[in-house]
Amino acid sequence: MSGWPVAIANGWYPLARLSDLGRKPVARRLLGQPLVVFAGKRDPVVLHDRCPHRGMPLSEGRVANGRIICPYHGWAFGDGGVCRAVPGSRDVTAVSAAALPVRIAAGMVWTTLGDGAFPVLPAAMEDEALDRFWWPVAASRARVLDALENHLDPAHPHHVHPWIVRAPDKRQLVAVTVEVTNDGASTTYVEETRATGLIPRLFEGHRTTSIGRLYPPTIGEVAFTGPAGLRLSIAVVFVPEDAATTRPWAHFATPRGRLPASLKRILLKAFHRPILAQDRRILSRQADRKGAYAIGPLDFLGPAIWGFANGNPPPPSRYETSVLL
Ligand code: FES
Ligand SMILES: [Fe+2]
Repeated sequence: MSGWPVAIANGWYPLARLSDLGRKPVARRLLGQPLVVFAGKRDPVVLHDRCPHRGMPLSEGRVANGRIICPYHGWAFGDGGVCRAVPGSRDVTAVSAAALPVRIAAGMVWTTLGDGAFPVLPAAMEDEALDRFWWPVAASRARVLDALENHLDPAHPHHVHPWIVRAPDKRQLVAVTVEVTNDGASTTYVEETRATGLIPRLFEGHRTTSIGRLYPPTIGEVAFTGPAGLRLSIAVVFVPEDAATTRPWAHFATPRGRLPASLKRILLKAFHRPILAQDRRILSRQADRKGAYAIGPLDFLGPAIWGFANGNPPPPSRYETSVLL
C-alpha cells in the first residue's frame, strides 16, 4: 500500500451494494489488493481474495449457506473468514482467510485496509425522504484524485461536455464562495440574475445555486438547489482500485415528485452516460502523464482535495469571488 496518500490508504470505501450479494461472490480490488465480498450468515463478509490453503482466488468459488466455498479443494469459510469445513475430513483446519472490517452505510458494504475514521457522508445518501439510487459502472483508467477533482471541477464542462452541461460560447457571471472547514471543503456557485433582473423571475427562482462539496478523502457531491430546496444531488465515491484505476460509485438523489423514481433513474443515467464517457477519456489521458500540477484561478477545490488526502488539510477559510462559467 505504500505510495498512497495517507488518508487514501486509511480510508473506508464501498465495494458492493447489499443487493449485489447473492450466490456469487463479488470480486473487487482496493488499493492494489484483490478482495472478495459475499453474504455471510449474519452480515456481509470481506476477505482478501486468496484461499489460505493454496492461494486460489476465493472469488472464483461460490456462496452457500453464508459460506464461501473455494473452487480448488472446497474449503468453506464463514463469518470472519473462519474455516468451517474441509471436504473429505471430519476435522476442520484451524485457519482463517484474512478478513477485513465491514460497515454497512447507504445500502453499500464498506471496508478499509487501514485504520482511518469512517467518512462523513453526504446527507442525501441517507435521506429516506428522497428518491435515491446507486449507479454501478465499471472501473476505468483514472487516478483517484484526478477523478474526484474532475467531478467537482467547474472549468471543464465548456470544453469536455459542450452543449450537454454548458453552452461552449456562452458564459455567465457566477458568484463563488469557497469554504474550507475541518471536515472538508465546498464551493457554492450562484448564477447572477441579469442587471435588468426581472423581479418576477427572481420570485420564480430564476437564480440557481449549485454546490460542490468535498467529503474527504474521496467523496465529491454536486448538489443543485432551487427555491424549494434540493433538486438533485450527485455524490460520487471514488474507489482507488490501483494507482491508475478508479471505480466511481455515483449516488443520485432527487426529491419525490411527479415522475416515478424508476423513470428518473432511466433519465438520469441516460443523461449522464455521455458525460461519463467524455470525462473518462480525459482522465485516462491524464493518467498517462506524471508530474506536478499548476494551480489556476478556477481550481477552487484541488488544493483541499490533495491536502486532505495527504493528511495535510488546509486551514479553515472562506472567500468570495466571481467567475465566468
Ligand atoms: S486452495 Fe482453497 S481449498 Fe485448497
Ligand atoms: Fe465532467
